[in-house]
Amino acid sequence: MFDVQSVRSHFPSLQQTHDDRQVIFFDNPGGTQVPRNVVEAMTHYLLHDNANHGGAYATSRRSDTMIDDAHRAMTDMLGASSPDEIVFGANMTSLTFTLSRALGHWLKPGDDIVVTRLDHDADVSPWMLLARDTGANLRWVDFRPEDCTLDMDDLERRLSRKTKLVACVYASNAVGTINDVKTITEMAHHAGAMVFVDAVQYAPHGLIDVKALDCDFLACSAYKFFGPHEGILYGKYDLLDRLPAYKVRPAKDRPPYKFETGTQNHEGIAGTLAAVEYLTSLSGKSHENASRRDRLSLAMKAIEDYERDLVSRLIAGLKQIRGLRIYGITERSDFDRRVPTVAFRMEGISPRRVAEYLGEKGIFVWDGNYYALAVTERLGLEDKGGMVRVGLVHYNTADEVDRLLDSLERLRA
Ligand SMILES: Cc1ncc(COP(=O)(O)O)c(C=O)c1O
Repeated sequence: MFDVQSVRSHFPSLQQTHDDRQVIFFDNPGGTQVPRNVVEAMTHYLLHDNANHGGAYATSRRSDTMIDDAHRAMTDMLGASSPDEIVFGANMTSLTFTLSRALGHWLKPGDDIVVTRLDHDADVSPWMLLARDTGANLRWVDFRPEDCTLDMDDLERRLSRKTKLVACVYASNAVGTINDVKTITEMAHHAGAMVFVDAVQYAPHGLIDVKALDCDFLACSAYKFFGPHEGILYGKYDLLDRLPAYKVRPAKDRPPYKFETGTQNHEGIAGTLAAVEYLTSLSGKSHENASRRDRLSLAMKAIEDYERDLVSRLIAGLKQIRGLRIYGITERSDFDRRVPTVAFRMEGISPRRVAEYLGEKGIFVWDGNYYALAVTERLGLEDKGGMVRVGLVHYNTADEVDRLLDSLERLRA
């Protein structure tokens, strides 16, 4: 049984009020709140260990030890083979641009790069610009507007011997669909292409297993899984090793260092390590002797089960509201194919107005395209204000869902 009140006690910011009402954070796909241990780890780093990399003195050694620990923590979180496969950087977008620039060495005019319409633009524009710079072609894979699931037949059609890279999102930040990344990877590899996965939105909701997925690269962001603003890129060691990096001459010429350009955000890395520790702790005291990976697996399973009930309640309630249309998977039997990120529109009321109304009531949601530009364009909503997005995580409660539904009913009335 998942004890949500105990979970919430770790997150000081959840106590915030707005006009005397407790704030409800449903803007989680835009960034999650952080538990106390993350704040403390960052403060501790800055107060006690703050130093540059590679010095011959105590704070620098402690700082380097922490950074090594963080690489190991992310190795466990993603199921990677080695800490050398984990690259830290500013955010997912910047890391993806860095990688795309390096991959440019392996592309030539006439090659194909495959992207999907379900993706956030951070997994589209870097590849679009790479295609522009190398003379490669960009091929789009469509999704089905009815339920916003990826059209796998269309993917099959786009793949050929010319395909060098397939970039796809693990879970959509707009409509919540989880892609079948394992199958996508198998199909891409069969065609001889590499696979890049944008796991930013999947990371707070389920266990990532890069070995099981067999993807070549995967990126995520700690600020979406209860950590600070920090990006993480996974790459198969052999690929990272062979890829030429844009680096300064004195920096080490091996992964991950050759991609970790300049001085890193050490306090952000300390906070990321603490976020992984927080997630690990959710497996409970009885599993304290299990490996970190096993504990993370138990924790993410508990999160998944809890969130599934919560999103069922949300979607069932939204369906009752007159003139409200949900974009994405709405059948309970398919909820293992979605994260609890739900996008909708209300007839006759703009998404901005809905978000403003809820904001006044202390319920924080997003509206617009949330950079999932291809999604709102495909749905014909880009020039209509996009959609309202409600994104739940494991610290949200059934009462919060009910308060949202009640407010939407009132707005409708
Ligand atoms: C699915 C997805 N991909 C990529 C990004 C960009 O991540 P970052 O802000 O770390 O660059 C986001 C941010 O919202 C996202 O939701």
